[in-house]
Amino acid sequence: MSKKEYSFLLYHSAHFLKMAISFDRRKRLARPDGVGKKTGDCGDTVEIFLAVSNNRIRQARFEIDGCQNTNATANAVCHLVEGKSIESAWQITPEMVAAFLETLPENHFHCAELATGALYMALTDCHRTRQEPWKKLYR
Ligand code: FES
Repeated sequence: MSKKEYSFLLYHSAHFLKMAISFDRRKRLARPDGVGKKTGDCGDTVEIFLAVSNNRIRQARFEIDGCQNTNATANAVCHLVEGKSIESAWQITPEMVAAFLETLPENHFHCAELATGALYMALTDCHRTRQEPWKKLYR
């Protein structure tokens, strides 16, 4: 292990490391109930996919085009919303994502804002899907 890798591991919390390097939630959902995609000023993109039943988020998945901090924040957003009601998911904030990760670098707080923004778009899309469920068939 290089000195750089070693100091990365020493610096970060267990939550951050798990969210930054695990890819089990990084996939598209087939026919999601809600999709939200947002690109930040930095050029990174986060896309969030939600599967909902009985007003609860059964599964949350993501795709990113971005760095490790973007992966950590998108993964954390999905982790934090799974099992929650749609109304509770709206309460998730970038500050909560950063607090959960514990060691998100301050100069990458915008990654938490981007991931949360994609979540809000996916939640808005869930409302649309509820009103017009047939649209889900064309995803
Ligand atoms: Fe811009 Fe992560 S570096 S969203």
